Amino acid sequence: MTTDLDILQEQINRSLDKHLPRHSDIAQAVTDAMRHAVLGGGKRIRPMLVCATSEAFGKDATSALPIACAIEFIHAYSLIHDDLPAMDDDEVRHGLPSTHIAYGEANAILAGDSLHSLAFKTIATAPEHSAEIKLMMIETLAEAAGWAGMAGGQCLDIEAEGRHLSLGELQVLHGAKTGALIRAAVQLGCHCAGDAVSKEQFLLLSEFGNRIGLAFQVMDDVLDVTQSTEQLGKPAGSDEALEKNTFPRLMGTEQARELAHTLVREAQALLQRTRLQTETLQQIAQQVVNRDH
Ligand code: IPE
Ligand code: IPE
Ligand code: MG
Ligand code: MG
Ligand code: MG
Repeated sequence: MTTDLDILQEQINRSLDKHLPRHSDIAQAVTDAMRHAVLGGGKRIRPMLVCATSEAFGKDATSALPIACAIEFIHAYSLIHDDLPAMDDDEVRHGLPSTHIAYGEANAILAGDSLHSLAFKTIATAPEHSAEIKLMMIETLAEAAGWAGMAGGQCLDIEAEGRHLSLGELQVLHGAKTGALIRAAVQLGCHCAGDAVSKEQFLLLSEFGNRIGLAFQVMDDVLDVTQSTEQLGKPAGSDEALEKNTFPRLMGTEQARELAHTLVREAQALLQRTRLQTETLQQIAQQVVNRDH
């Protein structure tokens, strides 16, 4: 059965394809690598969150699509760099050769750089939002992607390899490396809705983003130990091989899974307090924990 989420995912895939460059007079390998990294696969959780949040305020999902693509470009860049030998050194992504395996390390790094640039260009040129709103979006995404968010979290993740972090430290790490972008996706959806969003709704939705963001990485850690490489489309057991700090390692797999479900239930309760049309957001929250890859 085709669900609403499948339809939304299809819309996002088409929009990603449309926004990505096809040709470059000077660097065809880089544009090919960008397309490989983005169109090779992915669940599109972050762009779906942007569209579903905007829709919760009664806005048409299509006006949010360029913004949804922007955050997916940042995410895809983060995965290219995450797989590099200097980071997790993983050779498979989405069941395909990782970008640096397919296009070489230098081109993979440059494709990541270029996706980062494309993200901000895509917001700047989005047709349906005011310049003032787009500035806010750029600030939100830049903060979540950089040293205080995803990139900072990735730094903590690498530095903590082989060391033992406390539960609190691990929450900070996961909140930054994965939570920041997921919360930003929800906040970008709020920005798409402009004046329709009250301060209280913004805070409730941001906290919703924090909870599902943490749950998402806890589940990613669980899947790394419970699924096969074929199911994941990326190397199973990568975390253990690198002595990463993960929730299953700290508290056991079943307790980690239970924690992820609890976080999602809390997140769903927050959604109800917004009094918005949140059916699609509720479904996405469910998908954060009910997934096999
Ligand atoms: C994987 O993210 C990396 C994490 C932040 C956990 P996703 O599981 O969203 O990756 P794709 O895009 O669906 O492959
Ligand atoms: C990566 O976390 C988070 C990012 C910011 C890219 P992981 O290293 O666990 O992601 P996977 O498992 O390789 O997708
Ligand atoms: Mg990593
Ligand atoms: Mg990794
Ligand atoms: Mg992982």
